[in-house]
Amino acid sequence: MKLEIKDLGKHFGKKQVLSGVNLTIENGVYGLLGPNGAGKTTLIRMLAGVITPDAGEIFMNGTSKKNCGVNYYNKIGYLPQDVDFYHDFTGLEYLRYIATLKNIPDEKVGDKITHLVDQVNLTNDIHRKCVKYSGGMKKRLGIAQALLNDPEILILDEPTAGLDPYERIKFRNIISSFSKDRTVILSTHIVSDISNISKSIIMVKDKTTCPMTSADEMITKIEDYVWEVELPIQQLISFQNNHIISNIRTVDDVAYLRVVDREKPAAHAFHIDPDLEDAYLYEFNIK
Ligand SMILES: Nc1ncnc2c1ncn2[C@@H]1O[C@H](COP(=O)(O)OP(=O)(O)O)[C@@H](O)[C@H]1O
Ligand SMILES: [Mg+2]
Repeated sequence: MKLEIKDLGKHFGKKQVLSGVNLTIENGVYGLLGPNGAGKTTLIRMLAGVITPDAGEIFMNGTSKKNCGVNYYNKIGYLPQDVDFYHDFTGLEYLRYIATLKNIPDEKVGDKITHLVDQVNLTNDIHRKCVKYSGGMKKRLGIAQALLNDPEILILDEPTAGLDPYERIKFRNIISSFSKDRTVILSTHIVSDISNISKSIIMVKDKTTCPMTSADEMITKIEDYVWEVELPIQQLISFQNNHIISNIRTVDDVAYLRVVDREKPAAHAFHIDPDLEDAYLYEFNIK
């Protein structure tokens, strides 16, 4: 399975949200990383076919999406960012409903649902109303519906937003096991999601996507840029306005800062080991 994105662009009214997006996606897990408003959902919605690009083209295995017809959608499973279920439905009723929309033959639906529900660990709750589900359970049900048509490409928009740490780990495990023989594209603004799930990172920045990278590459890039700085607490606010700070620890009247900077940020600053959070703040210049 190969998805090629060529010169894709999208604007809403006068606002250009994305332009010149070029990507080639094959097997594996790809993480779209960027702050809120960067354009991740817009890109994902174009890939899922919910909105139409106003420039460029998407190719699936060399054929333009425009010429793939329903074949394109049959190969894609999609979990939208703000998924809400029909509250009156039980989990099972919801999955049956989606199966109908996806034209899955009746004789296959039962087994398929049983299998997926087991995989996303919802067997014991499938007869409960969705309204009673936790955030994590709703996301897992959302994944199950996205997988109903056996997609080759699974597209997940902020799948871990709103999950507690335990649910997040469970979720990661589900994605890892699904991704063995498929393509997963997920968006997130949570740095730890990316380092744990996806090998390939696509940053969405300045209205476009950056060349593909990895957590290791991002960290290596800032190898000598992370410092510890000790400051009297009174100087903290003015220092903060001019530097990228990834962590602050205070003891009495002293602040110990983790600073990301190409130059030595203070006379007594010393180097410390970078991590992905530092790299993210540096890439997006978040102060
Ligand atoms: N349907 C829409 N109409 C108008 N503006 C939109 C629409 N969808 C997204 N936008 C704007 O496009 C930008 C990118 O949004 P989005 O793709 O949701 O970013 P992200 O998912 O990275 O947070 C934002 O400025 C947002 O307000
Ligand atoms: Mg979004």
